[in-house]
Amino acid sequence: MPVLLKGIEILRNATVIEIFSGEAFKNIETVQQVWEQLTEHRADRKSVLINLAGGMGCDLGGFAAGTYKRGIDFIQVPTTVLSQADAAYGGKQGIDFSNYKNQIGVFKDPAAIFVNPEFLKTLPAEQIVNGFAEVVKHSLLDGGKFWKKIYSIENLSSVNWKKIVQQSCEFKLSVVKADPYEKGLRKILNFGHTIGHALETYLLNNNVDALHGYCVAAGMIGELYLSHMICGLAEKKTRKAASYITNHFPSVIVPEAFYNELITLMKQDKKNRDGQIQFALLKDIGMPIINVTADEDIILQSFHFIEECYNVEKSL
Ligand SMILES: NC(=O)c1ccc[n+]([C@@H]2O[C@H](COP(=O)([O-])OP(=O)(O)OC[C@H]3O[C@@H](n4cnc5c(N)ncnc54)[C@H](O)[C@@H]3O)[C@@H](O)[C@H]2O)c1
Ligand SMILES: [Zn+2]
Repeated sequence: MPVLLKGIEILRNATVIEIFSGEAFKNIETVQQVWEQLTEHRADRKSVLINLAGGMGCDLGGFAAGTYKRGIDFIQVPTTVLSQADAAYGGKQGIDFSNYKNQIGVFKDPAAIFVNPEFLKTLPAEQIVNGFAEVVKHSLLDGGKFWKKIYSIENLSSVNWKKIVQQSCEFKLSVVKADPYEKGLRKILNFGHTIGHALETYLLNNNVDALHGYCVAAGMIGELYLSHMICGLAEKKTRKAASYITNHFPSVIVPEAFYNELITLMKQDKKNRDGQIQFALLKDIGMPIINVTADEDIILQSFHFIEECYNVEKSL
């Protein structure tokens, strides 16, 4: 039987397991429901779990499969820009626990990843922008042609996602293949995330719904400033990248009175060592550098810079 027909035949006999979407359901209770269904339907070591979902469902399904009967195969079919361009690759599968994101998980690669840009046609515009933040991050880390291509995008509605997603995924794969367990190089992927996560947590704690990508976009502006001040990223390039970000992403601004709260949140970041806040920054576009520390007053200045960029551009 031709492979395709055999595949269709297998899918015809497949059991569908549905879960609720949303970060609020990325927890052990949902995993338990998946394990229960797998058990009920007598899934064995040769069964395959296909995760047809955005990053949340791919992470959770990968974790459920990676732990069921000590691990069965799973296939990722990511359906959002974020998951197609970033989350589906790199083997990190997991769930949130006790208010901490991705606190419980395993490293396990899927048997296959199938990416089809057709899925993106039904994705709400805000989810497109959300995922685009990680694409911009990859392009700044990669530099060269990739950054040039991203920089030339004026309107997200006219983007050929197939090419962009492919370039983004190829960049991420090159990094995670070189450093699967985040001993060094893979840490570059945290660019924009040290400040971004603090903004995201602060806003969530204050009941403001802020998409991860919007916070990472603001985080990248702050970390571009740090890159300029600490690592020598040229002022012109810093401004150019920051204004590109403000043109494409909604503003995320925290009032100055709460800047110290952001610093406190950054001190809790699990990537820190010896109580020092660690950043992945840029010496130049396409030249990332990891394990950079920064004085608190420069970090405070970077928050001001974020605000200034979203309001009107002012000098560094
Ligand atoms: N494993 C990793 O390396 C890694 C990296 C980055 C992010 N992540 C994880 O990814 C998750 C975020 O992923 P996400 O942004 O894809 O969010 P998501 O999976 O929560 O999806 C966002 C929303 O879009 C909906 N949706 C999904 N596909 C759709 C489609 N084709 N059409 C219409 N609606 C659709 C979902 O139902 C959901 O409401 C987070 O949990 C994050 O921790 C993991
Ligand atoms: Zn991210």
